[in-house]
Amino acid sequence: MTQVAASLAARSDGAVGASPEPLVGAGDADPDRVLTGIEGVDRVLGGGLVAGSVVLLAGEPGIGKSTLALQVAGALASAGRTCLLASGEESRQQVAARAARVGATADGITFIAGRDLGGVLDAASAARPTVLVVDSVQTLRAAGSTHVPGGVAQVRVCTDAVVGVAKETGIAVILTGHVTKDGDLAGPRALEHAVDVVLSFEGEPRSGLRVLAAGKNRFGAEGETAWFEMGPAGLAVIDPTDLLVSGRALAGAAVALAQRGRRGLAIEVQALVGPTEGSGRRHVTGLDLRRLQLVTAVLDRAGVGVGRSDVFGASPGGVRLDDPACDLAVAAAVASAATGVAPPEGAAFVGEIALTGRVHAAPAMAQRLQAARAAGCTSVYAPAGAGPGTTDLLVIPVAEVRDALGWALPPASMRPRSLPA
Ligand code: TYD
Ligand code: MG
Repeated sequence: MTQVAASLAARSDGAVGASPEPLVGAGDADPDRVLTGIEGVDRVLGGGLVAGSVVLLAGEPGIGKSTLALQVAGALASAGRTCLLASGEESRQQVAARAARVGATADGITFIAGRDLGGVLDAASAARPTVLVVDSVQTLRAAGSTHVPGGVAQVRVCTDAVVGVAKETGIAVILTGHVTKDGDLAGPRALEHAVDVVLSFEGEPRSGLRVLAAGKNRFGAEGETAWFEMGPAGLAVIDPTDLLVSGRALAGAAVALAQRGRRGLAIEVQALVGPTEGSGRRHVTGLDLRRLQLVTAVLDRAGVGVGRSDVFGASPGGVRLDDPACDLAVAAAVASAATGVAPPEGAAFVGEIALTGRVHAAPAMAQRLQAARAAGCTSVYAPAGAGPGTTDLLVIPVAEVRDALGWALPPASMRPRSLPA
């Protein structure tokens, strides 16, 4: 008899299978949510933690995942909720010292060593905390498992078990997971399908600026972000505008209007152009390398000679900017760096650049323009159709990249003849 047939036979003998239930029930439209009390975190989650959900908090080692998870626990405990912290990375004394530092000292937080999967899940099932924090998924081990510790198979098995208990008990779980600079390591990427929400915690470790961004989110908008600064007393929620935009016209800098979740974000991208021996290299921090390569190639053809130069592009704090609509700002920053001419005071740039040099429309234009206003910009170079400007914000329509760079390009009569007019 095949396995399936055997299992069917067993069921018909009276074994209990899962019984179907109505698909749509009361409360489905509005799942139970617990506000963490940290505004940015709640917003990125889509309105707080959903009971029975599993959130993966992914980031590079040292970025602040444990600190953020602890502060979430502290905020929940201050609001009278219970939180079980399972740490496989640090001892109770170490976590307690950090808790004192960040003020997560309210009653309601309990601790358990977090290496043994069964032990952690049993403790959680017995204690029924509002939230279980598992730090980290890579240090969890299933008893008797022959998988490589921290390997993909191991973290998958552990995550599946955690998801099962979360669904069964209604406990909301925050799992931390380490990723490498390239965005991977055994785990987090392989777990995305298994969890409900993936939050990435990013920033340049040497700077204090951190950004929490929602990736996959079954309960909210992908791309939603919250900003923090890591200081001596942990992470503080900040308004990043002043850090991301200098408010001055500088050679080699241009304001991009990126889309982050349902919001627009004004962020000043920077470029440096230097002489090179041989073929020019391109380096990025925070920006997308391929897009910088494309932008420099298009600029070269438009008459900004950077083909034989080294070009560096960066975002403030190394914040990841992969929205293609940032292309035009990157082009403006590079053109400005190459010519030493700053973009017009108060200008922002938005639009994706095609290989032909044409500038394509960007989604969520209203949010981007709103972000420009909030950052104090007074004009926006934007693809045609971006909508009319307002008295406080002039929208300058751009069909191709050259239209946005009049301030940097030599007058048409001085361009080499081989260039198209
Ligand atoms: P941590 O939360 O341990 O990072 P992760 O869990 O992602 O590996 O944070 C590590 C860094 O944060 C560490 O270098 C020290 C710094 N830090 C502060 O600057 N201030 C603080 O209050 C805390 C708790 C940590
Ligand atoms: Mg940690």
